[in-house]
Amino acid sequence: MSRALATTPSSDPDQLPAQLDPARLPRHVAVIMDGNGRWARQRGLPRAMGHRAGVEVLKRTLRHCSDWGIGALTAYAFSTENWTRPGEEVAFLMALFERVLAKELEALERQQVRIRFLGDLEPLPEGLKVLITDATERTAGNAGIHFNVCTNYGGRSELVRAARRLADRAARGELDPASIDEELFAAQLFTAGDADPDLLIRTSGEQRISNFLLWQLAYAELHITEVLWPDFDTEALLAALLDYQGRQRRFGGVQSGVQNGVETTP
Ligand code: IPE
Ligand code: IPE
Ligand code: MG
Repeated sequence: MSRALATTPSSDPDQLPAQLDPARLPRHVAVIMDGNGRWARQRGLPRAMGHRAGVEVLKRTLRHCSDWGIGALTAYAFSTENWTRPGEEVAFLMALFERVLAKELEALERQQVRIRFLGDLEPLPEGLKVLITDATERTAGNAGIHFNVCTNYGGRSELVRAARRLADRAARGELDPASIDEELFAAQLFTAGDADPDLLIRTSGEQRISNFLLWQLAYAELHITEVLWPDFDTEALLAALLDYQGRQRRFGGVQSGVQNGVETTP
């Protein structure tokens, strides 16, 4: 488990919906943005239109998380398995990522967002890679929300990569295998430096993880909603956060007066 803490920008009491308890917000929210294709099909539109609508929802979700004082948002944009989709859809998604990143970079800088792209970026189109490097460098020093976009990301491949990095160091004699503990292992993951997600949201009702953050979600609270991603509005985000605030997190211990890290009994 990563013990490093995400920077937690303090929430603005004027912005936070009154129903939410500022002391019990998740520090890190992860989201599997699913259901774009079904949303488009329901409207007789091509799947691409669902992806396009999904971008607007991601922008709003990021803004809310930032305004409400959540330290990190990690969004699953493209999995290592999504390459198996029709070439036309993959090409559309890559072009969409490129277009959106180019268009939104200035706003991200203005909002003090620190953006990172998690995954194996090597197979991505050259133009997208250039934009990713630029956006990452330009926002690296920002003090606001940590926004992680998982692109060509797979949990298993991330774990294998971490194991290989440690094995390489051990083989070179730089690392004693006995010194490998959870902290050192977590430091090899793409998410190094961020706290593990407290809350995982999956839209469109599928009850699975789909190879997302296999290590980091060990003790995340799961919120699965039937709402399709392009329909995931402010109310749906609020419902997820309220669901989270009602949970008793025990981390394998026994029930106590501690809820979401905060003492709830006198
Ligand atoms: C999620 O929506 C977006 C990506 C995986 C890129 P989908 O495209 O999976 O939509 P459905 O699941 O087919 O409805
Ligand atoms: C998970 O959605 C991946 C992303 C949201 C990027 P999928 O639509 O690819 O997952 P499955 O196929 O339903 O498991
Ligand atoms: Mg899907």
